[in-house]
Amino acid sequence: MNIRKLTIRKTGDYRELAPLFAAAGLENTERVPEGFRFGFAAEDENGALAGGAALVKAGNQYVLHDIAVTEALRGKGVGRRLLCSVMAAFQDMGAERVCLAAKAPAFFRNYGFSEIDADEVPGLFHCQECESFGTKCTPEFMVMELTKERLLFVDSCVSTHRSRTRQLCDAWIRRFRKEHPGAVTDIAMAEPGVVQPMDRELILLRNELIQQRDWEAPMFDLARQFRRADYILVGAPYWDCSFPSVLKIYIENIVVADLTFRETEQGYEGLCPCRELTYITTAGGPVGEMDLGYDYIRGVGRMLGIRNFREYRAEGLDIRGADVDGIMAETLEKINHG
Ligand SMILES: Cc1cc2nc3c(=O)[nH]c(=O)nc-3n(C[C@H](O)[C@H](O)[C@H](O)COP(=O)(O)O)c2cc1C
Repeated sequence: MNIRKLTIRKTGDYRELAPLFAAAGLENTERVPEGFRFGFAAEDENGALAGGAALVKAGNQYVLHDIAVTEALRGKGVGRRLLCSVMAAFQDMGAERVCLAAKAPAFFRNYGFSEIDADEVPGLFHCQECESFGTKCTPEFMVMELTKERLLFVDSCVSTHRSRTRQLCDAWIRRFRKEHPGAVTDIAMAEPGVVQPMDRELILLRNELIQQRDWEAPMFDLARQFRRADYILVGAPYWDCSFPSVLKIYIENIVVADLTFRETEQGYEGLCPCRELTYITTAGGPVGEMDLGYDYIRGVGRMLGIRNFREYRAEGLDIRGADVDGIMAETLEKINHG
């Protein structure tokens, strides 16, 4: 499975996900949980179910009732992608706090959840009534207090290997989460086949939707997601003096008149409230003045209303004899402390 081609679909049907939850050893999956709002189904490029999650609102409490990944696909990042979608959805629902009973607490701790005593979530979980409790199953009760802040990670790290750009992005996100506890991370995957280039038909459709001001149309999902972000991280390797073409395709999808910018008599007016856009890249050779990817992203960002930009760059990584670890460590140092 190519994790970059994973798609995450909202579903109102708990039963569609229940067999996956049961196979992953989650309890009480026979019945639709009380207060079930909706779920997410993660599907691979062939449409097969790779993971799922179920969101519950019990009274005024928001609960991540189930989240699981198909056994054969664990450890590839499906859970991480799912959790990001779940938390963004909870934030959209107005949640200020999300609770869960975790079998793998470390996974949730990485996102910003912390352990609490069971008596702090009375009546939310029925673990104590379950025969596996304390023997086969010893869950940790966890909670995350949400702020309204949202980070959008535009992941354009198309790569044949463990992307170095992506490693730098992961370090940046870890730092961001420390500095912004309670912020939610949303992910946009700029990947061929996942984002669509604008051809004649799509442009005609888009023009029609703009005319009707139908901003909820799926075609504008990425643009709405971009406009919703308080902080944006764009990660893209340095390709042919800029970045992979799929990032340009992503940009075509988010630059939408009257949604992310508008034309005025004085020129363009950006409609995106993002406070800062960070750009991370790695290059095989020297970059110098030819940083056209970052220049372009800043240009588009300004048009959309963003004023603050920052770049982290590791270059010269493919030069024969290069101290790759040293160059990466230097950039990581800047990301962690700069
Ligand atoms: C299609 C392609 C084009 C590239 N173009 C350049 C380039 O113009 N200049 C350069 O210094 N490195 C170039 N590189 C090398 C990458 O910038 C370098 O290997 C980078 O670290 C890859 O990032 P990643 O590990 O995140 O995939 C290119 C690599 C690929 C695959």
